[in-house]
Amino acid sequence: MERFADSHDSFYITEVAEQANELAASIPQLLEKITVLQAAVNDFANLNLEEGAVPEESFGYIPLDLGEFFAKIFALEQALTLDVDYRHPELRHRPCTFLEVGCGGGRLVHLLSCTDRFNFDKIHGFDISEPMIKAGQARYGLGSNLFVEDCLTFDYSGYDVVFFYRPLQDDDAETAFENRLIETLKPGAFIVGAGQESLDNNRKVVAKDDQNSIFKRL
Ligand SMILES: C[S@@+](CC[C@H](N)C(=O)[O-])C[C@H]1O[C@@H](n2cnc3c(N)ncnc32)[C@H](O)[C@@H]1O
Repeated sequence: MERFADSHDSFYITEVAEQANELAASIPQLLEKITVLQAAVNDFANLNLEEGAVPEESFGYIPLDLGEFFAKIFALEQALTLDVDYRHPELRHRPCTFLEVGCGGGRLVHLLSCTDRFNFDKIHGFDISEPMIKAGQARYGLGSNLFVEDCLTFDYSGYDVVFFYRPLQDDDAETAFENRLIETLKPGAFIVGAGQESLDNNRKVVAKDDQNSIFKRL
């Protein structure tokens, strides 16, 4: 005679196996949906940004892969959640002010502003190219959240998180920007970098992830 516990266990295992099969079957479709949505977002973000509108030592507009960008933002969220300086009684971490340096037309500022998934209470971006900022302001309606500035002279003290994807192609100019960023940031602020030149060797910041892209100002 079959014991009740045995039949109950096998029923449970069958049910879990069925659910796992359903989940596995839905993954390819889900990935395809993401690809289509990413293409739509990239198309929407294509502003035909004017070439040659940046100084010689600068990079022009090169979009960061969206998957890479959001992987960094999730890693940032994890680092902020674990950090006592950012603790909040109800939220994952206290609301943070966010700045993108070299935002082009503001595609990433726009994407972050479209969702309340992340806990940013101010999302700004600047670029040295006025035509790019004007094109982005017209396209996304972000108004004064996008502005024209030079990363080599900007004062970063008003922000909790500063993100950049290498604005300067000249190594010395990029290092000068990163030094300026670190000198003017408030202690405890976070940097999210892509393609950085010197952050990894700077004693005034500490790495907060194993990919060396999240840093905290000491
Ligand atoms: C690699 S692209 C960044 C792309 C952007 N993060 C994205 O993924 O959508 C570099 C950007 O830095 C800007 N840039 C170059 N020199 C700059 C400077 N001195 N100050 C501010 N922005 C600058 C360029 O105009 C360009 O839009």
